[in-house]
Amino acid sequence: MIEKLVPGGAGMARLVDGSIGFADGALPGEHIQVNAVEAHRGYVRARGFQVLAPSSERVVPACPIAEACGGCDWLHLNYEAQLRHKAGLIAEALTRTGGFRALPPISVERSPRPLGYRLRIRLHIDKQGRVGFFAGKSHALVEVESCAAASPRLDAALAAFRRISASFPNLARHFEQAELRVSEFEPERSVRLTAVGVPLAAQESARAWLAALRAEFHVAIATLDADYHQRFQLADSLWLEASPHAFVQVNWEVNLKLVESVVGSARAHEVRRFLDVYAGAGNFTLPLVAAGLEGMMIEGHAQAQQSAVRTLSGRGAVVPALCEDAGGALRRLAAAREPFDLVLLDPPRAGAADVIESLLALRPSFIAYCSCDPVTLARDLKSLCRDHYELESVRGFDMFPGTHHVETLVWLTRRQPTGA
Ligand SMILES: C[S@@+](CC[C@H](N)C(=O)[O-])C[C@H]1O[C@@H](n2cnc3c(N)ncnc32)[C@H](O)[C@@H]1O
Repeated sequence: MIEKLVPGGAGMARLVDGSIGFADGALPGEHIQVNAVEAHRGYVRARGFQVLAPSSERVVPACPIAEACGGCDWLHLNYEAQLRHKAGLIAEALTRTGGFRALPPISVERSPRPLGYRLRIRLHIDKQGRVGFFAGKSHALVEVESCAAASPRLDAALAAFRRISASFPNLARHFEQAELRVSEFEPERSVRLTAVGVPLAAQESARAWLAALRAEFHVAIATLDADYHQRFQLADSLWLEASPHAFVQVNWEVNLKLVESVVGSARAHEVRRFLDVYAGAGNFTLPLVAAGLEGMMIEGHAQAQQSAVRTLSGRGAVVPALCEDAGGALRRLAAAREPFDLVLLDPPRAGAADVIESLLALRPSFIAYCSCDPVTLARDLKSLCRDHYELESVRGFDMFPGTHHVETLVWLTRRQPTGA
């Protein structure tokens, strides 16, 4: 019987011989009959199975290509159960990887839209010029006509992109990826193209396709088009302006809740000076500055940092925005004993192992760690909480409904030295 869902999204069972088995798509409480298994060191993984008795949490996916497409792996789970199991995944990672014994209560903030929430999608283009997503755990292309996770405007952009690409399949294949983006706040949509390792001159031969795309999209290729920015509203008269090359959160309504939580906690803890590490285009820096805090940001991607500088200077805000690797920048700030009450971390999936030592040397009173991977989060929290910090709160945010992915915001408080 499947016991629980584990980070990575699979169902886990203990087999009669005492070993552990994983089955992607199986749900807690279900008995399954497995067709074949892949043996790994210490565990097996099911390759195909039949559900003998379905869980009451199982539903028919609201997307016809859910099984083939690797994008949304939890669409067969009802939404309330998704939220509950995501809270379980966070707790599991914190106890198993992080070694925490006592956890604050963990709940996951729901997405106002469990479907149709995404404002960007990354499409793959194959050698025949066909457009789609990759199948789960493979690079096989699954053509998509419509994406249930995409917002209606983004889905319309997908249809337009497919229509234009289908007319020029020989030209589209000069590129291997296309990220489509829309903002709910302005009509223009963008597509960022990644070339198949061919020089710009060769990409130029795709001119007819690019011209057709440009009639309906803002087209961004490599580092060109640095001046174009899409606008996303954070609050009344507070706009994030992001280049198509800069990171933006995929689910804007949930992002607003996340930002509100960070700013609310900073206010409640009377933070005066913050450092925003892995700051992107300034998604947290901007609202924190608008709330009257002083700060500094670090972002390694030049176009994201330039987007932030542009927005901040447009507001007349004086915020040092370092464009460099977070590890190196933090080592320098720690050596210079720069004082911060709050350090905010929002690293990519791999986590923030590189900055932990310098962060401990910086000794901020609070750390807010925002993560899209509970396991690397738990690993880094283990180092931070060994001697110096304690978990004050752990909140999940359902940034990616229909998938096993979850955004987690952890607030850490520096321990008072004992016996001093
Ligand atoms: C998950 S995004 C978060 C961005 C931003 N906080 C937001 O909410 O939109 C992570 C960001 O870290 C940046 N990044 C990744 N590795 C980095 C590194 N080693 N040093 C500095 N920035 C890095 C990426 O370019 C990206 O903008």
